[in-house]
Amino acid sequence: MFDALTAKAPDAIMHLMAMCKADTNPDKIDLGVGVYKTEDGATPIMRAVKKAEQLWWQEEQSKTYVSTVGNADFRRTMLELILGKDLLEKYDPRLASSQAAGGSGALRLGAELIYSASPEASVWVSTPTWANHIPLISSAGLKIKTYPYYNRETLGVDFDDMLSAIKEGAKPGDIVLLHGCCHNPTGADLSHAEWDQLSEFLTEHKLVPFVDLAYFGLGRGMDDDTYGLRKLVQTQDELVLAASCSKNFALYRERVGLIAVLTKDVDSAINAQSQFGAIQRKIISMPPDHGAALVARILDDPQLREEWTAELDEMRERMRSLRAQLSDALNVQGGEVMSAAVKNQNGMFSTLPLSKAQAVALREKHSIYLTDSGRVNIAGTNTTNIPRFAEALLSVI
Ligand code: LMR
Repeated sequence: MFDALTAKAPDAIMHLMAMCKADTNPDKIDLGVGVYKTEDGATPIMRAVKKAEQLWWQEEQSKTYVSTVGNADFRRTMLELILGKDLLEKYDPRLASSQAAGGSGALRLGAELIYSASPEASVWVSTPTWANHIPLISSAGLKIKTYPYYNRETLGVDFDDMLSAIKEGAKPGDIVLLHGCCHNPTGADLSHAEWDQLSEFLTEHKLVPFVDLAYFGLGRGMDDDTYGLRKLVQTQDELVLAASCSKNFALYRERVGLIAVLTKDVDSAINAQSQFGAIQRKIISMPPDHGAALVARILDDPQLREEWTAELDEMRERMRSLRAQLSDALNVQGGEVMSAAVKNQNGMFSTLPLSKAQAVALREKHSIYLTDSGRVNIAGTNTTNIPRFAEALLSVI
């Protein structure tokens, strides 16, 4: 039967990662896959994670199954981290949650739950969005629609166009997928005022927000990065949240994520909770525990939590400093718009106004790896390679 299969094109981001790995040029610059890097190009295990692993190795007593919805301490500490103590206390009875296999697993569980509740709902995603959003969500059976988001000329958000397109096409009960912060792939986020306006818009049009919070802590700080989500929790009847610990705990390969929903009432939350268990059971039975146990261990331990927060702050500040350095290097005639955007955008990514041919030229002539859409992982730049990157970039534009 397998002779009936045809070959699939490789995933663009994973393929880029493989091409960069295979390049033997010692001066290659890897601005591809979204992982944090230090000045010397390493993606280390965070110090608090390493310590928690040592402690956990001594403390863990069993490897028996935990639960279809995962580690309860992880779910509690993550929700408390994201929402803050007061909001969690207030909204906890209307929340259901499950640990998930990474942010991708969380998105998929969220999509499955939406499909179970409302199979006719469409999910509105931004143009552009993270390459894996559409496959993950549509494979649960949901229809995808798109709204304009990023203006490739101004390198900013087309907020009015975004609202008009959704207003024109969406029906009550449709889902609007939003990047909580550090929009992937553009780095262009909504302002607080835009989140406020969006929350009224969603209420008015009876739409349900689905917030993907994959990079919180890496944009402008925990409070700022969760502003939009917290606003929506306080204003919406229903909401879906997918969070990831891949980036802010650097736990990429451990696959640590959280899916949560805010429901209209307590009974619906109880039902949603049971649905999460059932959905997970039919896909992967239950999520892996190790990474989630480490996150819970860190967040529940004041000392480890402080160390983790300090390192996360360092990572974020380093990326802001790289943005400032790259912005300075691009601030020449013809580079002004890019220069301003790179400085003001958030998180790991910016999308630069490059054609596919220009992205390929950077790869083939300069060993600089970024996606064909022009997405750059800022964390892949460093003080040494920024001048070469800026020069090559300006030469192909
Ligand atoms: C990225 O966007 O590069 C990362 O989130 C990795 C991935 O899985 O795509």
